[in-house]
Parts: sequence; structure tokens; C-alpha cells
Amino acid sequence: MHEKLVGFDGPGFVEDLLGWYAQEKRDLPWRHTRDPYCIWVSESMLQQTRVDTVIPYYQAFLQAFPTVQALAEAPVEAVLKQWEGLGFYSRARNLHKAAAQVVACHGGKMPMQYEDMRALAGVGEYTAGAVMSIAYGMRVPAVDGNVLRVMSRLLNWQEDIMKPPVRAAFRQALGELLPGEQAMPDFTQAMMELGALICTPKSPACLVCPVRGHCRAQHADVQESLPVKAAPRKPRDINMAVVLAFKGDAVLVRRRAQEGLLGGLYEFPFVEGDGDKNPLAAWGLEGAYLCDLGDKKHVFTHLVWHMHAQQWHVTGGQAPQGYAFASAKELGELPIPTAMAHWRKIAMALLEEGKI
Ligand code: ADE
Repeated sequence: MHEKLVGFDGPGFVEDLLGWYAQEKRDLPWRHTRDPYCIWVSESMLQQTRVDTVIPYYQAFLQAFPTVQALAEAPVEAVLKQWEGLGFYSRARNLHKAAAQVVACHGGKMPMQYEDMRALAGVGEYTAGAVMSIAYGMRVPAVDGNVLRVMSRLLNWQEDIMKPPVRAAFRQALGELLPGEQAMPDFTQAMMELGALICTPKSPACLVCPVRGHCRAQHADVQESLPVKAAPRKPRDINMAVVLAFKGDAVLVRRRAQEGLLGGLYEFPFVEGDGDKNPLAAWGLEGAYLCDLGDKKHVFTHLVWHMHAQQWHVTGGQAPQGYAFASAKELGELPIPTAMAHWRKIAMALLEEGKI
């Protein structure tokens, strides 16, 4: 037995947790299915995004790509378009890549073995555990941020959850608490639900917590200081001049590299810095500066973009590979990240009003 579980009433905890979940769980669309494809989509979306935000995306995504085959056959642009606004776009690219793997290696049927699921693009221990336990009742742990918080408090576990060996130990301990297969789908979701509704990061609702009698942190009144988490590094600030360069009834866009931040999405080209030199020359274009279009900040996990935009009028030259002039209609159809959505709105308004 894991040392942290000595003296802990595992079966009592599971019973209290499941009793509460049966009564109090939220009615969420992915809780009406055991289809592993749907659950995989939901878990991919939920990993870094709030439930309320995910619901409409989940429904639209499954309408657009109702099966893993449909997803595999879709162009990646169409998948990114469905994901537009949800952020962390590598999740969408990985889902698409993994759907092709499912078709190529598993005849289009979602894997039924944990290791096969884990081998798909973008599927880590958490996602594999969540999908296999929720869809098939497999007895594997799914440890996300919610679950780490719940467990750190339940067991008054004071180690830094940012350290991989500590996470592995949490996973091992959770593995020893798992109920039988029948109860696994609910158990996995109940742990997350408790973290979302009761055992929240700040001001947890211990007074109404269904498992407070089992909670060592609550007993010692240290719940608010858990989990222990090394302070994240301060995000890096990037100053950038975003260029809205118009030619005829179109505006210049470029596609970002496939790998890395916002990979494969379209953006308005920018240069780092204040943009006090003519940026068009670097892109093989000639043109004239018209005016400034204002400032906008966008915060990523590790970066902050401080954008200030300029309007340019293109008079000549040839845009390089990866760059294109997009009409207002095309701007609406291209996958463009939220970070650039403000400038798209402005570009579309300028195009529609003919003020270019
Ligand atoms: N967060 C991650 N997975 C979830 C789920 N299945 N339900 C609610 N919140 C979640």
C-alpha cells in the first residue's frame, strides 16, 4: 500500500464520493455517452478549457465530425476552424493526426487497450486514463489538475505537484483507491466534479463537502495552502507591430509554421518591436503607411503579446510563400487565433466599408 494511504478509509471515501456525484453531478453533454470517440473529444477540449466554454465547441465539433473516420478525412484547416477560439491549437492538430492513426492502425475503431490509446498523437496518461475509464470502465487513474488538488488535500500531501515523480506518486496512490469497473466511469468524473464544484482552488466549500470526514487537510485546516505548487515563471513580454496591409479588396495574411504556438493558423503579419521601420520590405512588398489602428494585449501561458497595429496600403511587389491576400469572406473562413480576432474584426470592417 502507498504510504500516504495508511489509515485512509478508501472504500468509505469512494462510497461517499459516488453517492454525492449521483445526486449532484452537472448535466453535461459528454455525460450522456459512452462512445470513446466523443469522450476523447470532450477530454481533449476540457484539458485546458472551462466546461462552460467547451460545451458549444463540443457539440459543434461532433456535428462537423461525428465519427473518427469523418475527422480523419477532414482537411486540417476545417478542424482548426472548428477549434477557433478554444486555444491550445496543438490539441486540434493532434486529434486530427490521431484520428488518421485510428483509421490506419485500428481499422477506424477506437483502441480498446490503454497502451494503444496512449500511443495516439497528443494522448498522455491523463487523456488515456480518462477515456478508458469513462468509456470502458477500465480501472486506470486519470490525474488532472482537479484530481491533484483533491488528492493533495484529502491526504494532506505536501509535495510539489509540479514535479513529475510527485505526480507519478499521486497517480499510484489514486490507482489503489479505484473502485470496480462498474463504478469507474462515475468515479473518474466524480473526482473532477468534486474539484470543480467543491474542492476549488480558492475558498473550497468544505462545509458542504461530501468527503470532508475523510479529508486530512480539512482536519488540519490547511486546505487553502494545498496543493503545493512551485511558482510559475513570469510570462515573457513581446512587443509587436501588427501590419494590416491592404491591396484592392483584400488584406495580407500569413500562415504560421505547423510546429509551435498557434501552429498552422493564419495571422496578420507582424514584426517584433515598435514597427518604426517599413515592415513591408521584408515581405517583398512596397507600400505606404496610412495610420495606427490601436493596441491590444493577449496573454498566453508563457507569453504576453503587446500588439499595436498599423494600416498600410500595398502598391506593388510579390508576397512570399506562405503569405496571401484574403478577401473579407476568406478572412471569415480562415482559422485565425483569438489573439488576432480583434484585428480581423477591424480588417473586415475596413474592407466592408471600403476604407482602404
Ligand atoms: N474536466 C476534465 N474532464 C472533465 C469531465 N469529464 N467533466 C467535467 N469536467 C472535466
